[in-house]
Amino acid sequence: MKTLEQSAVEARVVRMLRGLASPIRFRIAVELAERKECSAAALAAMLPLSASSLFEHLTVLRGCGVVQSTGAGPARLFCLDPTALDFLAGFLSGTAQRARSWAGLVEAPGWAEGSMGLTVRDATAADAAAIATIYNQGIEDRVATLETVLRTSEERAEWLATRGPRHPVLVAEDRNIAVVGWASLNSFNPRPAYDHVADLSVYVAREQRGRGIGDLLLSALEGRARANGFHKMVLAAFPTNAPGMRLYERHGFLTVGIYHEQGLLDGRWVDVIVMEKILG
Ligand SMILES: CC(C)(COP(=O)(O)OP(=O)(O)OC[C@H]1O[C@@H](n2cnc3c(N)ncnc32)[C@H](O)[C@@H]1OP(=O)(O)O)[C@@H](O)C(=O)NCCC(=O)NCCS
Repeated sequence: MKTLEQSAVEARVVRMLRGLASPIRFRIAVELAERKECSAAALAAMLPLSASSLFEHLTVLRGCGVVQSTGAGPARLFCLDPTALDFLAGFLSGTAQRARSWAGLVEAPGWAEGSMGLTVRDATAADAAAIATIYNQGIEDRVATLETVLRTSEERAEWLATRGPRHPVLVAEDRNIAVVGWASLNSFNPRPAYDHVADLSVYVAREQRGRGIGDLLLSALEGRARANGFHKMVLAAFPTNAPGMRLYERHGFLTVGIYHEQGLLDGRWVDVIVMEKILG
C-alpha cells in the first residue's frame, strides 16, 4: 500500500485543523481572540468545563500551534497565535483560489460566494473597465497613491495582458453590483534576487468601502501569494489612510519605515509608509 507523503506545510495545516476540530476547542479559540491574554481560571469561568478538561484542550491547542502561553502555574496566560491562524487562513484561501481557477467550477450555485454575496476570482480582460473606474476613484480621492494619471479600460486591458501567473489580478464581484474591488500581486523588483517578494495593490469602489471587501481581497491575495511561493508581501501607502492602515495591521503587516515628504500631491508634501509581511 502507498504511504501518504506530506509536505511540512500540509502536516502543519492538518495539525491545526485537527486541533480546532472540536466545538469546545473552537470556542476556546474564539474566546481567546476576544482578549489579549487570558488565564485558565478566566476561561473556566466562561466555559462549561472542568479545570482538568480545560487544561487538556489548552494543551491540544498549544500542541497544534494555535495557542501560545506565558508564565507558569495559575498565573499562566494564554493567547492565540495570530501568525499561525494567518498561515492556516492563507493556505485555505490559496487552495480555494486554485480551485476557483478551474473553468466551470463556479457554475454550481453559491459555490464561490462568500457570506456577503461576494465572489473573489481572477480578473479577465472583460473586467478592465471596472478596474479602471475603481483605480481612478482611488487616484482621484488622493488617499491611496502618488499616481495622478487616470487610466482607461484599454490601458488596464493591456496591463492585465502583461501579467504572468505569479502576479495575478483578483476581483471581488458582488452578486448584484458586479465588480466592486480589485487587488493585485505586483513584481517588486525584476532582479532575480527579489523573486520572493511581491508588492500589492488593493482598491475598493468608493461607495462599497467599509463593508469588508478590502479584507476579503487581501485574504485572497495573501493566499495566492503563499500558493505562488512568495516569502514576503510588501506595500507602500499613505499613513493617513485610516482604513488602509487598519486593514494592513489587522492582516499582520508591520511598518518598515516612513519616507517623509516623499511625494508632492496637489502642492502638499505627502509621507509614504512602507509595510511588510513575512509569509514564512
Ligand atoms: C483601503 C481599502 C482597500 C480598504 O478596503 P475596505 O473594503 O474599505 O475595508 P474593510 O471594510 O475591509 O475594512 C478594513 C478595516 O478598516 C476599517 N475601516 C474601514 N473604514 C474605515 C475608516 N473610514 N476609518 C477607519 N477604519 C476604517 C474597518 O473597520 C476594518 O477594520 P476592522 O476589521 O478591524 O473593523 C479601501 O477603503 C479603498 O479602496 N480605499 C481607497 C484605495 C486605497 O486606499 N487603497 C489602498 C492603497 S495603499
